[in-house]
Amino acid sequence: MEAQAVKTNLVLILDFGSQYTHLITRRIRSLSVFSLCISGTSSLKSITELNPSVIILSGGPHSVHAPNAPSFPDGFIEYVESKGVFVLGICYGLQLLVGKLGGEVRVGEKQEYGRMEIEVVKERCGLFERGGKQVVWMSHGDEAARLPEGFEVVARSQQGAVAAVENPGRRFYGLQYHPEVTHSPEGMATLKHFLFNVCGVVDGWTMTDVMQEEIKVINEMVGTEDHVICALSGGVDSTVAATLVHKAIGDRLRCVFVDNGLLRFKERERVMETFEKDLHLPVTCVDAVDQFLSKLKGVVDPETKRKIIGKEFICIFDAFANDLEQKTGKKPTFLVQGTLYPDVIESCPPPGSGRTHSHTIKSHHNVGGLPKDMKLKLIEPLKLLFKDEVRELGKILNVPVPFLKRHPFPGPGLAVRVLGDVTEGNALDILRQVDEIFIQSIKDAGLYDSIWQAFAVFLPIRSVGVQGDQRTHSHVVALRAVTSQDGMTADWYNFEHKFLDDVSRKICNSVRGVNRVVQDITSKPPSTIEWE
Ligand code: XMP
Repeated sequence: MEAQAVKTNLVLILDFGSQYTHLITRRIRSLSVFSLCISGTSSLKSITELNPSVIILSGGPHSVHAPNAPSFPDGFIEYVESKGVFVLGICYGLQLLVGKLGGEVRVGEKQEYGRMEIEVVKERCGLFERGGKQVVWMSHGDEAARLPEGFEVVARSQQGAVAAVENPGRRFYGLQYHPEVTHSPEGMATLKHFLFNVCGVVDGWTMTDVMQEEIKVINEMVGTEDHVICALSGGVDSTVAATLVHKAIGDRLRCVFVDNGLLRFKERERVMETFEKDLHLPVTCVDAVDQFLSKLKGVVDPETKRKIIGKEFICIFDAFANDLEQKTGKKPTFLVQGTLYPDVIESCPPPGSGRTHSHTIKSHHNVGGLPKDMKLKLIEPLKLLFKDEVRELGKILNVPVPFLKRHPFPGPGLAVRVLGDVTEGNALDILRQVDEIFIQSIKDAGLYDSIWQAFAVFLPIRSVGVQGDQRTHSHVVALRAVTSQDGMTADWYNFEHKFLDDVSRKICNSVRGVNRVVQDITSKPPSTIEWE
């Protein structure tokens, strides 16, 4: 599909703060239709510039009567009507439409939350192909009490409240429930019917289109003499971003991978092999083990560790850029970053949430951050994609699949998994061996892909044990494995006892200095995934 065709089939979502908004984006993308989500209070210009063919007004936690209830900008109704854009309001979005077009919204006599039956009273309409009953997921207090002129009710809830409305002549539609959640089993059929049969949206948005479009954009942006740099972490995002840029501009991209002494077992060898042999990326590996560990000696505070590591990364990155300038006689102009769509969304919270940015629990994104005076322009080729889409793009770019499925690994590496001073004794080496046994056992048991993240933690304490008839006073390690959607919340993974028993034996029998293995059985919250 040509870039232009992708753009003329855009489904734009205006976000009014529902917890499900991004799920709508994902569901629509899963239909091979390009969908973007922007703030519900965006300016008219930022909406019209995107030239959407359909606009979805999301749900939200507000009442349309609240003093600062968020709304689409002035001129929105005139714009969509003059351009023939289809509009679908979901929950709060429906109430907003009804209120703004002259109807009446009031607090419902019975509030409707959760699973509920509705009855489609008009079949073969804009929102439903078939009539009859279906189960949906409701979540609202207000309801549409009087509809604007020209609207009709096409579905009602069990309790008689308005569940779906439409005014096909003016291309306005509304659902009081959430079609995007799995608790509305026929919700996807409704969205599909509406988008394809009513709005005439054409599917065909694929990761190959994304790749071609991004390559074009990168080539237009980067001049033929410009140099581009990229820091590879060994993770999926920076690797896919670099591979894409490399495909576009070849060896004018220069990458750096830093061995900071805080990497996992054989990590340096493993990722360098993938970068060089599989992906042919021009990458310099900087051995900075002493530089990092000498700065971390005696440091026990987790945030101080993170800051020290972040600062050292910047120094190395700076030196790398200067070195490149010496060699090529030209300052690098661009920097590639593997920013993903959720990072972009998280940094602009929904309107009315009262948040300007999320509360910092751990300074994650400061690690590897760049000094403002570096003046590099950013290339962020993944910034409209979700993680699973990045994996798909990676596949097309021939990034090996096991690499794409790697568990996330924190920027400060094992420094946040050795509690306390990371340079104490041979803590790092012990941890690397334990972690390798744990991860390899998980892989052998075929469990790796069902787990979001698994790792071992080194505890700065000793306990008494008995090994080979000898009393020992050795180290304790903890095993942590969690399932999660996005790392924001997590559940601990419930291994079979036999598996845990085998792993624990293997660790104590083969790693010198460890005589006790414990398992972390806390979810997030109240814990975090990492221990520091
Ligand atoms: P927490 O420990 O906050 O972790 O529950 C959530 C996710 O973020 C990763 N993480 C980090 N990533 N720098 C990073 O790049 C960090 O300082 C950092 N701390 C935690 C963690 O591994 C998990 O996937």
